[in-house]
Parts: sequence; C-alpha cells; structure tokens
Amino acid sequence: MKRRILLIEDELSVRLGVNHALAGAGYSVTACEDGDEGIKTLSREPFDLIITDLRLPGLSGMEVLTQAKEIRPDVGVIIITAFPEIETAVSAIKQGAFDYLSKPFTNEGLLIVVDRYFNYRELQLENVRLKETIREKTQFENFVGESSAMKAVFDLIATVAPTDVPVLIQGESGTGKELVANAVHNLSPRKDKPFIKINCAAIPENLLESELFGHEKGAFTGAIQARKGKFEVADGGTIFFDEIGDMPFSLQAKLLRVLEDQEITRLGGYKSFKVDVRTIFATAKDLKEAITAGTFRKDLFYRINVVPIHLPPLRDRGEDLTALIDHFLKEYSSKYGKQGLEISPDAYKSLLAYDYPGNVRELKNAIERAVLLSTGSRIHVTHLPSVIRKLAEDLPCVSEDLPLEEGVKCYERQRILKALEQTRGKKIEAAQRLGISRKVLWKKLKELNIDI
Ligand SMILES: Nc1ncnc2c1ncn2[C@@H]1O[C@H](COP(=O)(O)OP(=O)(O)OP(=O)(O)O)[C@@H](O)[C@H]1O
Ligand SMILES: [Mg+2]
Repeated sequence: MKRRILLIEDELSVRLGVNHALAGAGYSVTACEDGDEGIKTLSREPFDLIITDLRLPGLSGMEVLTQAKEIRPDVGVIIITAFPEIETAVSAIKQGAFDYLSKPFTNEGLLIVVDRYFNYRELQLENVRLKETIREKTQFENFVGESSAMKAVFDLIATVAPTDVPVLIQGESGTGKELVANAVHNLSPRKDKPFIKINCAAIPENLLESELFGHEKGAFTGAIQARKGKFEVADGGTIFFDEIGDMPFSLQAKLLRVLEDQEITRLGGYKSFKVDVRTIFATAKDLKEAITAGTFRKDLFYRINVVPIHLPPLRDRGEDLTALIDHFLKEYSSKYGKQGLEISPDAYKSLLAYDYPGNVRELKNAIERAVLLSTGSRIHVTHLPSVIRKLAEDLPCVSEDLPLEEGVKCYERQRILKALEQTRGKKIEAAQRLGISRKVLWKKLKELNIDI
C-alpha cells in the first residue's frame, strides 16, 4: 500500500510543487489549502504523515499539530516554515513534530526529510515488534513443553492472553497451573497492571468475603478501618483465583454476581462501583464432580469455564519429562555453582521410569535435591529420593525374557547399588557387606558401568 501524506499549504505554487514531487516519489498525496480543511480530512481518513505550513489562514500549523496528535497520535508531522519563524519550528518539534523544512527548499531536500521520517517510523515499529517477540519468548522461556499437549497449551495461552475472556486452568497438583496463569497475564495488555492472586483454599471462609470485596469501617467486629478488597486492588489488571473448587458455596453466588456485573460493594457499604478485571481460575479438583456433589455452583461453572485449559499429568507427557530433566539440571547446577553436572545412566533411567504423582513440582524438587547432594561430576541413583531410586533397584532381573548373562548382571548391579546406598557410598564397607574384596568391587563397578 502506498504511504499516505496529507499536505496543508495555502500557497498554490508550493502546494503544487510539493504534491508533484511527492507523487513522483510514489506517495499518495491529499492536498488541502488551510488548517480547518486539513483537520477535517484527517478525521475522515487515516494518514501516515502530515506536511503542514506553519502560517495558514484559519487554524495555524501549530494548532494543526496539536489537533492532529489528538486525533491520530501515531501520525508524523513535518512543518514547513519560513526563515523568521525558526523558533516556532523548534517549539513544534518539542511538541511532537518530526522535523521542519525551511522555505525555500528543493524537491531533493523535501524527499530527504520525508524518507528520513519513514525510515524512522519503520525502525520504531520494528523495535516494538522486537520487544514484543522478546517478551513472548522470555514469557515461555522457563515454561518447558515439548509434548503436543503442552504446545497446544502454549498456543491457547497466546490466543486468549490478549482478550478479556475468563480462563479456567485444570490439572493435578504440580502440573504448572500457576505458570499458565502468570503467562496469560504477562502476555496480555494488562501486563503492567496488578496481577492479584487469591488462594481460595487458604483463607478462612469468614475472611474471604472481605478479602475479595473489601469492607467499610465498622462493617464487622474488628473492622476498625475501611479496607480495599482484591477486586479493587486489581482494577485494570487480573485476578487469579487459585483452588476455585474450594471456594465456600455461600460465596460462590456473590462471586458470580460480581463477575456478571463487574461491580462490587464493600462489606458494610451501600455504594457499588465498577471494576475492570480479567479473571483466571485454577483448580486441581474436578468441578463437574463438585457440581454433582453439591459443593460447586453450576451457574458459576458455566460463567468461568469459557476457555478451559487442561494440563495433563506429567506421567502422560514423556517428551516433556526429558526436556524438564535437562531444564532443571541446568537451572540448579548453575544456581549451586556445579556447572557441567551430569546424570548417570542409572539415575536417568530411574528418573524416566517413575510416575510422579506430584508432577513437575516433584521432579523439580528431586533434581534440586540431587544437585545439592552430588559431590562429583555426576548425579547417581543414591542422590535421588528413595521412591524414585527404588525403581532402579526393583527392576525385575529374574524375567525369563532376559538372557541369563544379562539377568545375572542386572542382579549384581542391584545388589551393589543397594549396598552402596546402605553404606552411603562407602566402597570398603559395601564390599564387606557383599562379601567380596575391594578389588573385585572396583572391577564390577567398572564392568557394570556403575559410576559412583
Ligand atoms: N512446564 C513447566 N516448565 C517448567 N517448570 C514447570 C512446568 N510446570 C511446572 N513447573 C514448575 O513446577 C512447580 C509447580 O508448578 P505450579 O505451581 O504452577 O503448579 P500448580 O499446578 O499450580 O500446582 P498446585 O495445584 O499444587 O498449586 C513450579 O515451581 C513451576 O515453576
Ligand atoms: Mg498452584
């Protein structure tokens, strides 16, 4: 599309000359004779740039500048001025004009300034785009997901974030519900406004209502001062209701009303006022079951279940497991100054075999602990929590599917690992327990690739 320039110039010869030069350079030009007509035209159609004379009949160039910036803040303005008015031109720049041209000017001089403006504009836009992508990237940087399920979640977050629709995040404990809530807020136009979290399960029922809606002085015993509720504090931003399934039944109706009217009344108050908040909800509970059980209101469910985001348990996301192990290993080895730390094949196998009822949180904690406990350059089975470690030890070695030689190796390995665990890695003691010499233990460790 051609770039559109609005030219406001009362002097016929200049108007024709400038129009001709700009049109010749490929711009689409609309020319007006005075400021009033110029502003009228600008309110009717969009322009990329205005070139206006400073001295005009009717509205002056300065007034055109001020009004133009109000109508279309993004439009660029170049002022045409005669030499004695140079000071006015300088103050025009201070008020947002891009540059000025002093009469008389050549076509070349004109085109240089106009080109410079569009280059500058392009850079500015590029900069905004760049910032945007950097922000999006970093938003998801610590949010690992290689599985198709998680990629779909990322796409959904990116789609709903810019809107104001309620989001309901469901998933077992530790699956990353809070990370999703954070990402939705941080990628939304509300990102610089408050992000208020409220844990519906952690606040006693009698306090939750005033916590949400605030109260006036004397609203109840102990209300010695008026206090803003979370809805007021979050005005313009986002409220995240964590564990919404645990919200007391009696409060659910009140919450529903606020969500519908976007209007709150403080406890003990008589005035209601509008609030502008975006809401995000999370729950580890199955809300449909809660509805059947009579602990969750159906109407509230329909109100908040506009965009459901489901986070599958970690045990169903094998691809994420390896990516998360690498991610947390990097994170914690650099945090604890143990860069380059590796995970031994046995420990890695155990980490992969475990089913993580505590989901990502459990894995994260296990890796942090292992990094802390490790003394050499590797994380070993012995550094893993016993529930995870057990798996490597308990793998059946007696299976008839296993060739005899491998079954024997498997058994030896388990015995040795167990002995090392019981002696906290002390090899001499472990050898004694196993009834073998230290030398034989060394040999077997090497043979079996047990690296401890
Ligand atoms: N995909 C992921 N990538 C990186 N870290 C993750 C991911 N998912 C979860 N985590 C981390 O795991 C921990 C638990 O996540 P989070 O607190 O978001 O879970 P939750 O679903 O809100 O759990 P709960 O129901 O117990 O509140 C956090 O430290 C979070 O940073
Ligand atoms: Mg949570």
